[in-house]
Amino acid sequence: MNIEKISKKLGWLSPAMAATVETVLRRIPAVRKKMETEYAEVLKTLEQHLKPYKGKEPSYPLLPEEGLSKEAVLDTLKRLAEKEKPKWQKGLVSGAVYHGDPEYDNFLAEAYRIYVQSNPLHADVWPGLNKMEAEIISITAHLLGAGDSKEPIVGAVTSGGTESILLAIKTYRDKARREKGITQPEVVLPVTAHAAFDKAAHYFGLRLVKIPVDKNSVPDLRAYRRAFSSNTVAAVGSAPNFPHGTIDPIEDMARIARRKGVGFHTDACLGAFILPFARELGAPVPPFHFEVPGVTSMSADTHKYGYASKGTSVVLYRGEELRRYQYFTATEWPGGLYFSPTMAGSRPGGLIAACWAALIAQGQKGYRHAAAAILETTRKIREAVQEIHDLRLIGESLFIITFGAAREDFNIYRVMDAMAQKGWSLNGLHRPPCLHFTVTLRHTQPGVADKFVEDLRTSVREVKEMPQAADGLAPVYGMAASLPFRGMVDDLLRGYMDVMYKV
Ligand SMILES: Cc1ncc(COP(=O)(O)O)c(C=O)c1O
Repeated sequence: MNIEKISKKLGWLSPAMAATVETVLRRIPAVRKKMETEYAEVLKTLEQHLKPYKGKEPSYPLLPEEGLSKEAVLDTLKRLAEKEKPKWQKGLVSGAVYHGDPEYDNFLAEAYRIYVQSNPLHADVWPGLNKMEAEIISITAHLLGAGDSKEPIVGAVTSGGTESILLAIKTYRDKARREKGITQPEVVLPVTAHAAFDKAAHYFGLRLVKIPVDKNSVPDLRAYRRAFSSNTVAAVGSAPNFPHGTIDPIEDMARIARRKGVGFHTDACLGAFILPFARELGAPVPPFHFEVPGVTSMSADTHKYGYASKGTSVVLYRGEELRRYQYFTATEWPGGLYFSPTMAGSRPGGLIAACWAALIAQGQKGYRHAAAAILETTRKIREAVQEIHDLRLIGESLFIITFGAAREDFNIYRVMDAMAQKGWSLNGLHRPPCLHFTVTLRHTQPGVADKFVEDLRTSVREVKEMPQAADGLAPVYGMAASLPFRGMVDDLLRGYMDVMYKV
């Protein structure tokens, strides 16, 4: 692949130099044409992976004149779901499904069904939703140190981790604008913080000041301290971060932010419903929530280790005053007095009912039990990965296994392909190139961890025996990770999204 050759030759360019070279290259028609041909080739490979039903299942690009029978519709849904189910149900997918027991899924679906038509925007019609939402927030806050806080820990139920993060960042931006007159807001955070913060900065016009991490994913605290300016409106840490599953030194980071007079957000989208129980079980969980005085907000995903169905998360704030900056009101609209606490207007009350049902049905005991099984499975896999000499574990993590190659000439993305051939779905990460596997209840089923380890050993051996094979997605990952021209990678991602929306 030509793009791959370019990456290898020009990998030494600094990001700024690469951007300049790329701008110049893009102005040359022959180069532009060549790039487009290469994109088309890469996208074609990706399309094959993305559209397995093309030509095999009936397609409905237009509304049928006469609706299909409900039986036919449900049959189609069941057929597709049955094809997709074995992979995640058997525990072959990293993260994604955190519980997934069929009986439990029916219970969540039943809770959703009972409130299927409801919308919390109409609090007068469905006061039950309002009650459930308030209880979800209170339960989450109390798992995360509300009992230790002089100020009340308050919050809102959102549609997922990304929305919780978007809202927290918007809140800090608006507070700083109102109280300090800051018009060029900045947020300080490690490079490992979730991309949702990039999205928040993009949507709401903030600048992110990113801090490097060391080879074990620990943020550079000196760089962190130096990154604050008079425009800083918030700082962020993760508990844990998505890429490597490590918990940032929240106590130190929040203390520094507090001294600088800036709020601190702990992103516990992943950790909120497992770390408190892991700590009870004796695992080394450093302070990360409202027990730390400088922590002023948090994101906590009920739809991950909270075992709710997809579509809910909680954003929390220390004090009602801070939460007020999140709210939206419109007092002059002819449609009436309008107010909305989160991003969406209408919201699916069924998801709130299912989330509430999950929390109440699990109870402390359910979460503790689940945490124990997940921690044990992770420990077992991590120990085995440590013994594979061609791999290097990245960071200390309680429920995520991230590993790269121990040598530069070993292509870790080929291991991902070899694992994919055995049915596994791992996440391919970059900077540094590595793979990651988030352990959920799916992986605590008997035999899953052993099969993972066995298949990983075999995959590593296969890659060593045939280092040059170029099928699968490894070349695409490799190229996307190393290409100095990030505008090209950006184009490719946009092209990928176009492909996703093709019927
Ligand atoms: C640490 C962390 N923060 C935020 C998010 C974003 O959550 P969501 O995908 O629910 O929007 C994730 C998702 O994996 C995450 O791992």
